[in-house]
Amino acid sequence: MSFLAILAALGLALRILGMFLILLTIAYLLIAFLTGGPYVPLSPAELDAMLYLAKPQEGELWIDLGSGTGWIGARAARHGARSIGYEINPVLVLLNRLRIRLSGLAGRAEVRQANFWFTDLSKADVVSVYLITYRMPKLQRKLAAELKPGSRVLSVQFPLPDWKPAGKLNNVYLYVVPDKRCQGSTYST
Ligand SMILES: C[S@@+](CC[C@H](N)C(=O)[O-])C[C@H]1O[C@@H](n2cnc3c(N)ncnc32)[C@H](O)[C@@H]1O
Repeated sequence: MSFLAILAALGLALRILGMFLILLTIAYLLIAFLTGGPYVPLSPAELDAMLYLAKPQEGELWIDLGSGTGWIGARAARHGARSIGYEINPVLVLLNRLRIRLSGLAGRAEVRQANFWFTDLSKADVVSVYLITYRMPKLQRKLAAELKPGSRVLSVQFPLPDWKPAGKLNNVYLYVVPDKRCQGSTYST
């Protein structure tokens, strides 16, 4: 094979690889926007606010919906909670697992590659989310149907449309599921 033929074959291979990567990116963005939102990490101030507002207790279960690289779950586990992150993007799940291993949090923090719309939240004491605004009504219905009284919900940037926040700090909304889902409580649906 001549040198020129090798160059042409390489060029073709690179073009195919480029097309594949572009298609993969488009597919990921489509999935992210349709399911819950693309990856955008929260800021350190927002992370601090989450911990301050939720005040996780030893042994509580903290579920992070759309956990990205697992920053929130790791902090929650360091504060004594058991954390489970649900993340749909396999690359982020790998980074999240790496973070758990490197920080020595195995056994206290875990990440599951899953679509969080199909997860059960009934055992959660704290649920954290950073989604996209048009997904909040659907999320609110899921939280209202599944969460137990006393559990806390933290949402970065976007409020739940009909629930009344129990607190807000650095762009993070806190909600507490009331004992009786009735008037005068911190949420109404
Ligand atoms: C705005 S990012 C927040 C990432 C992380 N929680 C943080 O604050 O750094 C939203 C994340 O949710 C993930 N996601 C979106 N829809 C999802 C779904 N249905 N199930 C699981 N993860 C989802 C995205 O892949 C993305 O990593």
